[in-house]
Amino acid sequence: MDIVNGFSKLSKEQKIDWLAENYFIDNQAIIYFLKSYWNNDEALQKLHDEFIENTITNFYLPLGVAPNFIINGKTYAVPMVIEESSVVAAAANAAKFWSQRGGFKATVLSTEKIGNVHFMFEGSKQKIEQFIKQVQPMFRERTAEITRNMEKRGGGILKIDLVDKTAELANYYQLHATFDTKDSMGANFINSCLEEFANVLREESMKFEDFTENERKSLQIVMSILSNYVPNCVVRAEVSCKIDDLKSKEIENPKEFAERFVQAVRIAEIETYRAVTHNKGIMNGVDAVVLATGNDFRAIESGVHSFAAKDGKYTSLSHAEIVDDEFLFWLDLPLALGTVGGLTNLHPMVKFALELLGKPNANELMQIIAVAGLAQNFAAIKSLTTTGIQQGHMKMHLMNILNQLEATSEERAKVVKHFESQTVSHSAVVSFVEHLRKE
Ligand code: MEV
Repeated sequence: MDIVNGFSKLSKEQKIDWLAENYFIDNQAIIYFLKSYWNNDEALQKLHDEFIENTITNFYLPLGVAPNFIINGKTYAVPMVIEESSVVAAAANAAKFWSQRGGFKATVLSTEKIGNVHFMFEGSKQKIEQFIKQVQPMFRERTAEITRNMEKRGGGILKIDLVDKTAELANYYQLHATFDTKDSMGANFINSCLEEFANVLREESMKFEDFTENERKSLQIVMSILSNYVPNCVVRAEVSCKIDDLKSKEIENPKEFAERFVQAVRIAEIETYRAVTHNKGIMNGVDAVVLATGNDFRAIESGVHSFAAKDGKYTSLSHAEIVDDEFLFWLDLPLALGTVGGLTNLHPMVKFALELLGKPNANELMQIIAVAGLAQNFAAIKSLTTTGIQQGHMKMHLMNILNQLEATSEERAKVVKHFESQTVSHSAVVSFVEHLRKE
């Protein structure tokens, strides 16, 4: 196949035609299929088209809601966007469970964001330190335009430090800058500031008299970019109750349950194979709310997993303890989130999700999302250490299997009834449906 030039300049229809012609046999069917996912409201479709380059259609994911989340005494219905069938049910289940035991507590521990100008300098360390000291006021003066609005909102640049990294990479230094971006995630703000810092370095180094000609020439900017590693932008979510109060329909022996639960968390603390899956379960809850609220789930993912490995070994993000007769379960998560800017006031579903949450500020959203992660983790460990995960998982997956089999509503009713008391597996459902069809 030929390489296509100017694809982005084609209209949406031309792009679809080109794909249909080059990659599919039944052109008309594929064109019809893609267009069937367009929204009838042209303005709304245009809005979505323009989020990215080369949009050809929409890709649906369900938006579900997990009600009954009590967080710091306030009740939320939490919007979740996710494809995995059991996640919303598990969140709702954990939310209800803890709503009867005092609810969740969440506390923002810190809100600092980071950005770096990575640069090379070959020369005297003392002189580069002297130079940075001299241009410190300029970093702020030259970014005054960019920071004005942020400062009005109480945020801005906190600190700009020179870091010597030459022991790890020859001639490598960085400006390590910290920011408070208030209710915005702040990526654009931080990157704009950093690029201006880099301009200051570039231009002022030419005039700095103490540098030799070689030192001046050696100062080269490599890149300026925010870091998604935010170990000082952390929120804690926690639950606790008397062990006896854990008793419920599913937990007959609360002491045994609490002990097994704590063991399961300890395993995730010391065993990386388990920690990764344990944390994946936390991210089921986190990502679903991050997506629903229009935040950058890739940034959150990379930030969270690097945090889980911050002490040199990948470990559990959550922890559990029994202290006297009390069960304690908590989670610390680095979450750089925004409730203004980005998609938050553009995407109609994001606007809906934020409104449903009572228009939270970034700190409140950090708390809600960390709680969603903790709830998800609680539900997963509860299932894993009691019934096993498959029972609930496959029950939720039943509808997907029935959809694959194109089951009629009559068949569905019979299947659902039958599997109320049977273990769901793909093959068991297939043979039951085949049996029904033969009858
Ligand atoms: C599945 O999406 C998530 C779990 O594997 C998490 C866990 O094992 O803790 C159930």
